[in-house]
Amino acid sequence: MNKSTVLFVFLISTFLLTAQTQQTEVESLKKVSDFPIGSSLRFIPFMNDAPLQKIQQHHFNSYTAGSDMKMYQISPRPNVYYWDRVDSIVSYTKKNNQRLFGHTLIWHSATPWWVEKKAKKDPVWLDKFMKEYIQKYVSRYKGKVHGWDVVNEGFNTKGAGYRTESIWYKTMGETYIEKAFRYAHEADPDAVLFYNDFNIERDTLKFNSMMKMVEDFQRRGVPISGIGFQMHIRMDTPNEVIAHTLKRAADTGLQIHLSEVDIIFNTHDDSKGGGVQLYNELTDAMRMDQAKKYAELVEIYQTTVPKAQQYGITFWGFNDRDTWINRFFKLKDWPCIYDENLKPKPAFYGFLNALKADY
Ligand code: G3I
Repeated sequence: MNKSTVLFVFLISTFLLTAQTQQTEVESLKKVSDFPIGSSLRFIPFMNDAPLQKIQQHHFNSYTAGSDMKMYQISPRPNVYYWDRVDSIVSYTKKNNQRLFGHTLIWHSATPWWVEKKAKKDPVWLDKFMKEYIQKYVSRYKGKVHGWDVVNEGFNTKGAGYRTESIWYKTMGETYIEKAFRYAHEADPDAVLFYNDFNIERDTLKFNSMMKMVEDFQRRGVPISGIGFQMHIRMDTPNEVIAHTLKRAADTGLQIHLSEVDIIFNTHDDSKGGGVQLYNELTDAMRMDQAKKYAELVEIYQTTVPKAQQYGITFWGFNDRDTWINRFFKLKDWPCIYDENLKPKPAFYGFLNALKADY
């Protein structure tokens, strides 16, 4: 069979399987994968959603909190630390034998108002607070949280350069990033420490800025252990560009996490409410194209990132019912591997089959 016949057979069988199979019968992603497979979740609805839990336990061996572990949740007011929900997540993941990934220690967008206010008046205080916050948090969950997004989205939305409007950058300068890694490493030397960002797989100016920082950290012994590619991609994000950046990132020898994967059809300008509705309905042809794109992403990951550096693939929500995309960009899209009725889509089979393939 030539390449296009193989692809045709793959797509037809994927489609037939999708039409016939119930969610409970599908193969488990984690069972066929050589690396951890995860999804972000919102713990409160999740805890009361038995069908969702069943699917989550069937497929995933890694758990990322969508919001529950961010600074505005942990320390919403001065001198207050709320650990209860994280403790519950730790119990849940332990009980279900899942890796807990910590998202995220320092993110401009998750910094509570009171920290911003105080930082403006007292830059020295911000450094002290960052150290206390990170060390309290990371040491409390030492050995329980496997890895952390230490700093999230420290570079500009588009193009080169640091995100200068971040309160952390404005107050402490670019050294806030390396300080965060050092504080986290002191608190748990075994934790896998990531720098995490979006669009780095396709915006090469942004990617180059990040790589300059990462390579400088490596030269100077700043304890970074991984790069997180959020990987919120679109159907037209070129595979060659993704492969090129993943390969360059993997050449650092660091762990590579596809940390927030989803694939949309429509487009947006990266800002809240900035969606552009190009497609109003999901056709069968679009379902098949998405299956292929998910399969290609897995293939790129497996063929460009050496096994020892494959930290895993995490979806940013795994179903179209709960996806952040529609809420955030004010769009109607279908970015996930499960649909709005919690049934596997062709995208699921594309992803599954690609995990099982030999490259
Ligand atoms: O918990 C409250 C709830 O009590 C209230 O009823 C509800 C009403 O709006 O809000 C709930 O909080 C929301 C929270 O998500 C809980 O899910 C916040 O308003 C909302 O702003 C928050 O949004 C999250 C956002 O990060 C900011 O933390 C999204 O769910 C989450 O998907 C998004 O995730 C980010 C990653 O961390 C970084 N990369 C991009 C990604 C998407 O924006």
